[in-house]
Parts: sequence; C-alpha cells; structure tokens
Amino acid sequence: MRRVEALTPAAPRILIVDDDASVRDVISVLLSEEGYRCVVAASAEEALDLAQHEETPLVISDMKMPGHDGLWLLERMRDRHPDTAVIMLTGYGDTESAVDCLRRGAVDYLLKPPRLTDLIRAIERALAKRRIDLARKRYQRKLEARVRERTADLRTALRDIATTYQNTLLALVTALDAREHETSDHSLRVVQYTVSIAERLSISGKDLGEIGRGALLHDIGKIGVPDAVLLKPGKLTPDEWVEMRKHPDIGFQMIQAIPFLDTPAEIVRSHQERFDGGGYPRGLRKEEIHIGARIFAVADTLDAMTSDRPYRRGTSFENAIAEIDRCKGTQFDPEVVRAFLSIGEQGLLDLKNDMLEQKRRGNPMGVATVAPLYAEPEDDDLVREAEVSGMHEAWTEEPTSPGTKGSQVR
Ligand SMILES: [Fe+2]
Repeated sequence: MRRVEALTPAAPRILIVDDDASVRDVISVLLSEEGYRCVVAASAEEALDLAQHEETPLVISDMKMPGHDGLWLLERMRDRHPDTAVIMLTGYGDTESAVDCLRRGAVDYLLKPPRLTDLIRAIERALAKRRIDLARKRYQRKLEARVRERTADLRTALRDIATTYQNTLLALVTALDAREHETSDHSLRVVQYTVSIAERLSISGKDLGEIGRGALLHDIGKIGVPDAVLLKPGKLTPDEWVEMRKHPDIGFQMIQAIPFLDTPAEIVRSHQERFDGGGYPRGLRKEEIHIGARIFAVADTLDAMTSDRPYRRGTSFENAIAEIDRCKGTQFDPEVVRAFLSIGEQGLLDLKNDMLEQKRRGNPMGVATVAPLYAEPEDDDLVREAEVSGMHEAWTEEPTSPGTKGSQVR
C-alpha cells in the first residue's frame, strides 16, 4: 500500500520594508526562525519592485521612510496587489496615522519596536484573514461562472421556445389562409407593412413584437366563421355579414388567455375598427382603438388593394397610397397615415420584395425576426443580481365602408 505523504505548504513569503537596516534584519531573522520566508526592502519603491516579481502574501512596512512613505506603499499595494495583506509599523504616539492606515486598507498596525509575540500573532491573523478572503473570492468567482452558465442555458432555452412559438403561430395562420385558398403571403406582407409603419412611429422592442404578432393573427377568428359564409363567392347577405362580423371577437376569445398574446388579442379584437367609429365590433373611435390596430388597418388596406384576387387584379401601389391618404381622418388615423406615407412607394415595394426573398430562402418568419418574441437582455443584470398586428374591411362593399370599388375583403 502506498503511503500518502502530507505535503507541507511552502512557507509564506513576507516582505519586510524599513529604511533602518537593523530593524528589518532583526525582524527578518526572527521570522525566519519561525519558519517564514523573509525578503527585505530598504524603501517603498524597492518593496513595490520586489512584490511585482513574486507573489507576496504579506508586507510588513514601516510608516516613516525617506522618499515615499509607508502610506504611499500601502496605496500602491492595494491598487496593484489587492490580495497582499499589509501590516504597518508605526511610531509611538502616532495613533492618528495608524488609524489612517487601517482606513486605507492595512490589515493591522503595530507600534515600533514590535514584540515578537505580537508580531507573530498579527502575522497569523493577517494570513488567516487573507486565506478566508481568497477563499471567498474563489467561491464568488465560481458562483458567478455558474450563474453565467445557467443564464446562457436559460437564454438558449427561451430562444428555442420563442422560435417554436413563432413557427406554431405561422403554421396556424398558414392553415387559416389555406382555408380561404390563399397563401400565407398576405399575412406575412401585412406583418411586414405593419412593423415598418410602427417603426416610423418610433415603436420598438416588446411593443413592436406585440403589434407584429397582432397583425399576423388578425383574422384568426375566421376559424369560427362557417365555410358557407367565408368561402361564398358572391356578396354576403345581411345575416351572413352578422356571422362574418363575429370574427374579431372570436379571435380575441381564442387567444386572450394566452399570456404572451394579451396585447395581440386586443389588436385582433380591434382590427376591423375605423378611426371615425364606423367599424366593428365595438365601434371604437380614435385613440380608443389600439395603436397596433390603427396601424394594421393601413397595412391591410394597402395589401388588399395591391393584391390580385380571382375576380379582379390588384391596383398599383401609387393608387393604393393615394386612396389611403384620401381616407385619413375618416377610416385611418392621420398620424399613422403620415408615418405610412413617409415610407414612400419604392420603400413599400421593397418591403413586399423583401418578404418574398425571405420566403424564397425558407425563412418566412424572417419578417418576425424584425420584432423578436424574445429580446436578449442587454447586459448581465441577472448575473449581477445573483449574483429576460383586409383592408380594414374598408375596401369592402359594406355599407359602412367609404369606397365601393375593389373587392369584398372580409
Ligand atoms: Fe378581418
């Protein structure tokens, strides 16, 4: 059987600083006899130089020295070697500077000449305190590293959930669009336009994400509208309109209980409202309508007017823009129309092409990444503490809509 030899830790190195050779030599000899490794320095500058070259757990320094004094050395040591304990030797009656030393970070002070027992006791206390301090720092560093690791894991998990969640919403919207024999392009374009207008209104971050999701889910309530009504090729009868007008409330009921979707739910419920109060289901006016729904109304009208339908071809962006501008203050919020107009015809065409490009690349929700569900925290706050929006049915042939042209967008 092998015997395990106990290793004696190397004696700690003590740096003795005093301009008086006899004092530093006496202390050095006495401490060496006690098993310490002693190094001596005749000045504060020399001591600082020695401390730079080898780890020095403890410094015993005289206060008064020609040139730089003990206080000067103490401050440099605190600054450059914070793990080194410093004991100061002060002259009799110099209590004030002794207190000053402690205030500036010395672990102890002794009156000159120090008695050996006092010196040994002070050294042992200083070294013991240093060991505890170092252990505490190591523990804190480990803890911080662990919190950082867990925070990174948590962020990855949240990002994965957010991606899965976005894809689930898109699948739902694609299924709904498919029911109306459409592609999901309409929903994605409307999100693109809505987000872009919102950004022009200085909306960002979480608010932007919620408005984008409200736009994506706007017609989710059509799942509750019978096929005979939703898919009817001709005009709807008044009774059929009653059915159709239920979809904002149905959509709201569907998603309002989902914590992530309470604001999008409000946008879904308000997406058929008009600025002048002529919309449905609640006939809300002006600021009573969620800003996301007011923005969506413009975005949806643009897309409905510029998209081809089986029974008509879409109009030009130029015509759509002029029509939206004409309806500001009645159908649309003038502030929103102003933000929309600032994008310009080419800007809007670019947005449409952008969406097609993202889809071609197999990243249809690239649109949604403009306003991610999960926003990365900007700094390491967690560590430190333990230390995370149809043509607004405006373009309809409904009695309440301003225009009689175009198609029946429900
Ligand atoms: Fe709708």
